[in-house]
Order: sequence, then structure tokens, then C-alpha cells
Amino acid sequence: MARFTLPRDVYHGKGSLEQLKNLKGKKAVICVGGGSMKRGGFLQRAEDYLKEAGFETKLIEGIEADPSVETVMKGADVMLDFQPDWIIAMGGGSPIDAAKAMWIKYEYPDCTFEDMCKVFGIPELRKKAHFCAIPSTSGTATEVTAFSIITDYQKGIKYPIADFEITPDIAIVDPDLAETMPQKLTAHTGMDAITHAIEAYVSTANCDYTDALAIHAIEMIQDNLVKSYNGDMGCRDLMHNAQCLAGMAFSNALLGIVHSMAHKTGAAFADQGAHIIHGAANAMYLPKVIQFNAKDATAKKRYGVIADYMKLGGNSDDEKVDLLVKYLRKMNDDLNIPHGINKYGKDGLPADTGFVPENIFLERLPEIAVNAIGDACTGSNPRQPSPEEMEKLLKCCYYDTDVDF
Ligand SMILES: NC(=O)c1ccc[n+]([C@@H]2O[C@H](COP(=O)([O-])OP(=O)(O)OC[C@H]3O[C@@H](n4cnc5c(N)ncnc54)[C@H](O)[C@@H]3O)[C@@H](O)[C@H]2O)c1
Ligand SMILES: [Zn+2]
Repeated sequence: MARFTLPRDVYHGKGSLEQLKNLKGKKAVICVGGGSMKRGGFLQRAEDYLKEAGFETKLIEGIEADPSVETVMKGADVMLDFQPDWIIAMGGGSPIDAAKAMWIKYEYPDCTFEDMCKVFGIPELRKKAHFCAIPSTSGTATEVTAFSIITDYQKGIKYPIADFEITPDIAIVDPDLAETMPQKLTAHTGMDAITHAIEAYVSTANCDYTDALAIHAIEMIQDNLVKSYNGDMGCRDLMHNAQCLAGMAFSNALLGIVHSMAHKTGAAFADQGAHIIHGAANAMYLPKVIQFNAKDATAKKRYGVIADYMKLGGNSDDEKVDLLVKYLRKMNDDLNIPHGINKYGKDGLPADTGFVPENIFLERLPEIAVNAIGDACTGSNPRQPSPEEMEKLLKCCYYDTDVDF
């Protein structure tokens, strides 16, 4: 038996933000990030639509990128005080993820962050509020997923909260919101989306329902991401749908070790002055993990199917895997994303010397490898790495060398 869960309603297409007018309730809290929704005028529109629907609204703003446990706890206090019956989260993956975790704490004030991190261990929600997610980036698809990623900065670790309880009730996928994304964000979030689709397709939890979504997402991202990056707004709009389809796939098929490594390296070098941005981490690690996973016969075949759908050519599965890896590396070049951590600059762009010094990387490597193996995304990866293999894999991601083990 397997379960396939999505939001009850997904409104999509230009102008779909207006659907907020049709929500039924009394009090809505609106959660946003650093200001992009305000600048674009979307926050004002959302507030106006909700007022038109008869809501009293309250704003939780300033939710930072890669939100912290502290931000979640503070936001939950605001919710406990205001007692909303709807939570509206608007923006990139960060504010939406933070709002999901606030929701849990709002419904269960005694629930600790540790409790939240027990995979599929969230108690029944919706006793106090329903949840509507409105994404402004084309990548995480958190508007349709059962996940929320919160960072514990004391440990320098990103923890996935995973449970269908936190799958939103309503997603509004309005491409207007993604049109203001700068180039770098378009690149990173787009590579996050293709990683979701590819990891979901080869995941051990894949099924017919998720395969269809994953494959169509991959084809759409292949056709539209680079053009969207280069300013084609028609392609930008299509990417908003593509990332959402990828999310529907991975929320139900789960992910793999590209994400495990991205979660455990993302904030691990924060003391060196930067984060390895989630989408960029995925973009760098994905080709390496494909080479690693392709040693598993089933995964190799599935990568071959992906290459076929992408019309990459190749006469054998081995050739198809090579062509897929080459194609993804070319996408990174087209999107100005480096191939290895040692060339990852503080600003997320390729640099002669990356911001993570070699000695610090090597010093922290054993711990990062153990943490990555323990990540919630590792269990559904088609090949289970040993701690030694994970260390070798991470080294390949640092130095940008081929994986031959
Ligand atoms: N829940 C999930 O299923 C899931 C999946 C993948 C990643 N994540 C997590 O999501 C987070 C990343 O989210 P993200 O990539 O969407 O970015 P983000 O939410 O962290 O936002 C990054 C920056 O982009 C700005 N921004 C957002 N939308 C914009 C727009 N339309 N125009 C201009 N600027 C805009 C934000 O203000 C912010 O400064 C990470 O913490 C990652 O781990 C979650
Ligand atoms: Zn992701």
C-alpha cells in the first residue's frame, strides 16, 4: 500500500492570487520573507483580497532565507496571540517552510523542535487553522509538499520536517509572482526543481503516480529553465508549473542523497561567511550522485529512461547515464553555477577560490558524511552509501572529480 497526497486545491495560472477572495474564515495571518512580496505589490494585493473576503489580517514579516528554529518559535507566539483560522504563507521556500513549522507549534504549543523532526510523527493539524501557500520562486514546490526545512544554527544543520499533515490545504501557483526573480534565484531554484524530479524518479518509493509527474516536470524544465534564466517570461511562467509538478512527485516519492548532502553542507560553513544555497548545492551534487547511483542496476535503467525522454541519444544505459551527466553539467554552465564546492564563491557564483577552505572542508568531512547518511532523504535513495563512500562522494563534490566507485 502506498499513499499519494496533494493539497485539496491547486489554483494555477496568471492572476490566480485573486482566489484569496474566496477563502472562508475570520482571521488570517500572512507570513512573508524579506520584502520581495511587498516590493512587487503582491502583499498589498493579498491583504486587499483577504479584507474583501471579510478577514482580519496580521502580518509576520522578515522571515529570513533558510529559516531558524528561533524564527519558527517567535512566529508561533504571534499566531498563539492572534488565533488565526487561516495561515497564508507567501514567498520563497523559506517563509512557506517557516510558516508550516509555526503552524505545528501553534496547534500544539508543547511540541518541541525535536518532536517536529520525527519523520511522519506530526499529530493531526487543522484543529485551529488551515494553510494556504503561494510560492514566488520556481523551485522548492513547498506549496504542495509534505516537507519543511528548518535550520538549527547552533548545530549548523538543516532538518527536514516530513509529514502529510503539513501538506498545505490550498496552493496558489501564480506565475506573476515568479516574474520578479533575479537571474541567480531563477537558476538556483530551477536546478532545485530538476533535482526534485530526477531524485523522485529514481527513488525507491517511486510509483506510477509520481513517475508521470516527474517525467513531465523534467521535460518542461529541460525546455524552459535556461530560457527563463535568459529573460523569456513565457518560459518563466511554464517553470512555475514545472517546479510544482516536480514537487507533487517528490512529496510522494521522496528524494535521495543529493538532498541529504545539500541539507548537511548548506549551513555547515556558515562561519566562513556564506551558505551553500540549496539549489546550487543540488546542481553541483546531482551529476556526482547520478554516477554513484548508476552502479545500482534499477537506478541506471531509470536514468536511461530520463535520458530517452530528454532525447539525449545513447545506445546503452551506460552511455545514456554519461549523456545525462554531461547535459546537467552544461545546464550548470549555462546558468553560471560552479561544478564543485572549491569553486563556489560567497555570492553563489563560480570563483577561482571558493569560500570553503580545503582544510576546513576536510576537517568537517567525517561529521558531515555521518549527518548526511542520517538525513531523512537518504532512506529512499536507490543505493545506500557507507560512511566511507559518503565521504568519498562529498570529496568528489568538493574537488569536482568523477565518481568511479
Ligand atoms: N519544503 C520543501 O519541500 C523544500 C524543498 C526544497 C528546498 N526547501 C528549502 O527552501 C529554502 C529555499 O527556498 P527558495 O529557494 O525558494 O528561496 P528563499 O525563500 O530562501 O528566498 C531566497 C531569496 O529570494 C528572495 N525572493 C523570493 N521570491 C522572490 C521574487 N519573486 N522576486 C525577487 N526576490 C525573491 C527572498 O526574499 C530571499 O531573499 C531552503 O531553506 C531549502 O532548504 C524546501
Ligand atoms: Zn530541494
